[in-house]
Amino acid sequence: MRYYIVFISLFMLLLQSCSIDSEEAINVYSGRHYSSDEVLFKRFSDQTGIKVNLIKADSDQLINRLTVEGENSPADLFITADVSRLSQAANLGLLQAIPNEVVEDQVPSNLRDPDGMWVGLTKRARVIVYNKERVNKDELANYEDLTDFRWKSRILVRSSQSHYNQSLIASIISALGVDKSRDWVSGLVTNFSQEPKGNDRDQVKAIAAGIGDVALVNTYYLGLLLNSANSEEREVAEQVGIIFPNQGNRGTHVNVSGVGLTASSSNRENAVKLIKFLLRTDSQEYLSSENFEYPVNPDAKWPELLTNWGTFKEDSINLNSLNKFLPEAMMIANQAGWK
Ligand code: FE2
Repeated sequence: MRYYIVFISLFMLLLQSCSIDSEEAINVYSGRHYSSDEVLFKRFSDQTGIKVNLIKADSDQLINRLTVEGENSPADLFITADVSRLSQAANLGLLQAIPNEVVEDQVPSNLRDPDGMWVGLTKRARVIVYNKERVNKDELANYEDLTDFRWKSRILVRSSQSHYNQSLIASIISALGVDKSRDWVSGLVTNFSQEPKGNDRDQVKAIAAGIGDVALVNTYYLGLLLNSANSEEREVAEQVGIIFPNQGNRGTHVNVSGVGLTASSSNRENAVKLIKFLLRTDSQEYLSSENFEYPVNPDAKWPELLTNWGTFKEDSINLNSLNKFLPEAMMIANQAGWK
């Protein structure tokens, strides 16, 4: 009898592992290179038996690859940062609609494509950081204030080639129109303390080095610096404070990293399951606690650091509507000499 039970249990185990193996794997092309994402994919596989193959590369390279592979692409999901790249993939016909019921209760409508071609995964706020000793917080409230003469040779920001800056300028065009945005960009460039170079983290380091006093950066970079294993990076980050701009009017500009279901997906059902999983509150809380990006799911709790920075009013414009201003945004930046 005992042998019989052992035999039945072994047989059941075998059946189970067969069903795990038979679940079709999902291929994810991702421009996000965070270990947190891999941890979540592993959790998903453990819970569902669906394997996730991750292909990491530069986002623009992945868009090219999807284009070249066309309908034969093995990719099921495309993950990238910035609404401009998500929309680019959608406009190239590389994505198909995610069923509305998957996303409508999890993600506010301004953080996803109205046609369902992509949905935000994490949210980033582009803020002003300032040296706490050299700058009085009350001197700055809006992005628009950065053109004031008092900031001459004190402002740091990365290149206008950065999608983060292009989307920020697009949001300003959307709010103020082209002419005022042109004035804003040229006023900002006039106040640069050096020619733009490096990434967001480098701007914070340049403040610490005394090269400038204020910088435009995404908050999660500051979170990563504050939690760095390198004590110099932590010290650099501790010297700056955060201002969430435009609280008395349209709100701080936010952007997303997001996910789209590829047009070529041969494994749509499982791919949608993974999107659902990534938007779940526990997954969202995990991403936020590891990378210090904001969750897109409003039910997800923020980690302590973000809670300490405080809640803020966001520019609630639908991110998709920024796209039409991007060509103008790039032109304005070029004309103003924002390298
Ligand atoms: Fe980034």
